[in-house]
Amino acid sequence: MNSALLVCDPAHFRIDYEINPYMHTEMQPDQDAATAEHASIVVAHLVAGRRVEYMIAAPECPDMVFTANAALIRGDRAVLGYPPPERKAEMPYFQEWLAGRDYDVIEASYPFSGQGDALVCGDLLLAGYGQRTDPRMHAVLARELSYDVVPLRTVSSRWYDLDLAVAVVDHSRTLAYCPQALDDPSCQRLRGLGLDLIEVSVDEAARLALNLISDGTTVTMSRGAPRLAAALRERGLHVVELDTTELAKGGGGIRSTALTLDNPDPGRPR
Ligand code: ARG
Repeated sequence: MNSALLVCDPAHFRIDYEINPYMHTEMQPDQDAATAEHASIVVAHLVAGRRVEYMIAAPECPDMVFTANAALIRGDRAVLGYPPPERKAEMPYFQEWLAGRDYDVIEASYPFSGQGDALVCGDLLLAGYGQRTDPRMHAVLARELSYDVVPLRTVSSRWYDLDLAVAVVDHSRTLAYCPQALDDPSCQRLRGLGLDLIEVSVDEAARLALNLISDGTTVTMSRGAPRLAAALRERGLHVVELDTTELAKGGGGIRSTALTLDNPDPGRPR
């Protein structure tokens, strides 16, 4: 399954505030290295047959490169994110971009980390809460986008978004997750899905290795998680490992830098 991804250049990426434990204002990204890193991620998507759309970063939005938090899209409907105050200025840009491409844009009524806390798995939505997403958003997502929601609570700010703790490798077959990052009922719910589950250590998860993009054939992931990479290769997946040291200073990895624009409509064959 190919997909269309929205990315935003890292020209204004910097650490102006600390809204997750990976961010330190005294550890600024190197601009050239960040640009090169981002370009390699985009190339990897293109080589994997994914379509990439670009947005231009706004100078006053140092986290705008992390487009995943902008919304969750299904078919032609987009539920906008409702980020922490430090990132609010990004939202009008994303809203305008999406509305300009004829998405029906719905504003979130409660805090919502967009795709950061929303992982599509077929007709299921693995929906995070406990950090940046108010659980009341789950009913909104179910109603507006017709997903069956599987609520998953992350237990610490290290996993401020669910996409640091869980990854959909193949929506009909395989998930990867860090059991320590979720509370017990959430782990039970994941195990109850009947999918193959790859367990990832806290160490590899804290290196943002689960923040990957997989289309079920190619997995694009950060370097630094050899055990996860090996488990994926054992399953016959083509694994592309990239350096993401600069993005990591913002607390993001590969998945954070892309918003999926074409999650299939309800009922449409995948
Ligand atoms: N610095 C950004 C923030 O804290 C990183 C966002 C990463 N996004 C993600 N989907 N994990 O908001």
